[in-house]
Amino acid sequence: MSIIKIRNLVKKYHVLEKEFSVIDGLDMDVEEAEIFSIEGKSGIGKSTLLNILGAMDTFDSGEVEVCGIKLAELDEKGKEAFRAEKIAFIFQHHLLLPDFSALENVSIPLLIRGYSPNKAKDEAVSILEKVGLKDRLDSYPSQLSGGESARVGVARALVAGKKLILADEPTGNLDRENSRNLMNLIQELQKDLRFSLILVTHDMELAALAHKRNQIFQGKLRPVVSPQTVQ
Ligand SMILES: Nc1ncnc2c1ncn2[C@@H]1O[C@H](COP(=O)(O)OP(=O)(O)O)[C@@H](O)[C@H]1O
Ligand SMILES: [Mg+2]
Repeated sequence: MSIIKIRNLVKKYHVLEKEFSVIDGLDMDVEEAEIFSIEGKSGIGKSTLLNILGAMDTFDSGEVEVCGIKLAELDEKGKEAFRAEKIAFIFQHHLLLPDFSALENVSIPLLIRGYSPNKAKDEAVSILEKVGLKDRLDSYPSQLSGGESARVGVARALVAGKKLILADEPTGNLDRENSRNLMNLIQELQKDLRFSLILVTHDMELAALAHKRNQIFQGKLRPVVSPQTVQ
């Protein structure tokens, strides 16, 4: 079943008096349990597309269906509910709450969704164990390394068992070693938990994880042809 279906998407920005279409007739299809990369140079529209998918940004025309929901039909309340129930984000800056421990950072989204404190804690502990942070549950963000913070960010995204994860340059802030570790972790978790992952990146190594590699070019998506298959 398809988890994302986009037809003829157009997104325009207005700068000074001028209008330009950063996304211009874009189609996109993502299946369940698929890692789908969106590549392309800086300023090409990757984050814009991801934000539209997450109902964080509006669009001018076209159809955007995510998890069976037509985003154009949602009002603000509907968008909030969609974000809370259907999708999770992983950012480059993990945006952990500085005054809360790793365990609390991961539990809070569950408490907001109405889990009892005990159930939220159990789920959070279990996912933090999966990302290798069993011993850092009570650490605060300032006490965690960059790689560890990134892992907490991944745990927080995955904790509610959502089926669609949107990741914007998740390794952008990490050195090579931590970036590789995070990539391997994401790949293992994806095999295990079978979520769909939209991976915005200009890191070729990270993009190589994708089942389908794509880039934005002239406002549309096109498949990335790997060098081995070029004659
Ligand atoms: N709110 C905005 N108003 C005007 N232009 C914008 C706005 N947000 C992004 N842009 C422009 O749209 C283009 C795509 O931005 P973005 O999606 O952030 O690119 P990427 O993530 O690929 O680096 C850029 O040229 C950027 O300057
Ligand atoms: Mg971006």
